[in-house]
Amino acid sequence: MEVLIASADIHRRVCELGSQIARDYPSSRPLLVGVLNGCICFVADLMKAIAIPHEIDFVSVSSYGASSTSNREPRLIKDLEREIAGRDVILVEDIVDSGHTLHFLRAALLARGPRSLRIAALLDKVDRRERPVPLDYVGFQVPDRFLVGYGLDFAERFRHLPYIAALTAAEAAPDTAAPQEVA
Ligand code: IMP
Ligand code: MG
Repeated sequence: MEVLIASADIHRRVCELGSQIARDYPSSRPLLVGVLNGCICFVADLMKAIAIPHEIDFVSVSSYGASSTSNREPRLIKDLEREIAGRDVILVEDIVDSGHTLHFLRAALLARGPRSLRIAALLDKVDRRERPVPLDYVGFQVPDRFLVGYGLDFAERFRHLPYIAALTAAEAAPDTAAPQEVA
């Protein structure tokens, strides 16, 4: 495992994104919609960095499971708690890979008639995109490697790490020795 983005660098960038969002919504109360489970660290830090009134809600989309390859047919497995018609909505996602998840979610939410819909993604694996997705707020562009930490998991492990790390090819392969955290 190799650390790619240190905790302090994540914090600094998330604060910048929060300030930018606060500036962009001077007179409405945006609704942040976190995409569970990977968004948890990002959305928690982002909301503290948005110094204007806003609300949060969550959706969950069927995920990769224990595999590190992409699930091509996302499914909504937990819906929003509230109506978004007429609201300014910001989808908050940990990482955009193929783009299938956000392409699906964006269409599903747009069908409900929000006033606006933007997307905030902490990480953008830009080389992997298969579906175009407009990203309005991006933390970092990242290489095509399997990343863990700060909410991102590998088979439900490593979400708690305060930094973003990349697994080696051997660590990300199935049926190999479990990866080790960096101390
Ligand atoms: P996409 O639909 O291929 O864009 O995949 C997006 C989802 O896959 C993200 O919400 C993540 O939960 C997960 N994902 C993609 N790449 C990684 C990674 O490198 N580490 C952990 N999760 C990932
Ligand atoms: Mg995710």
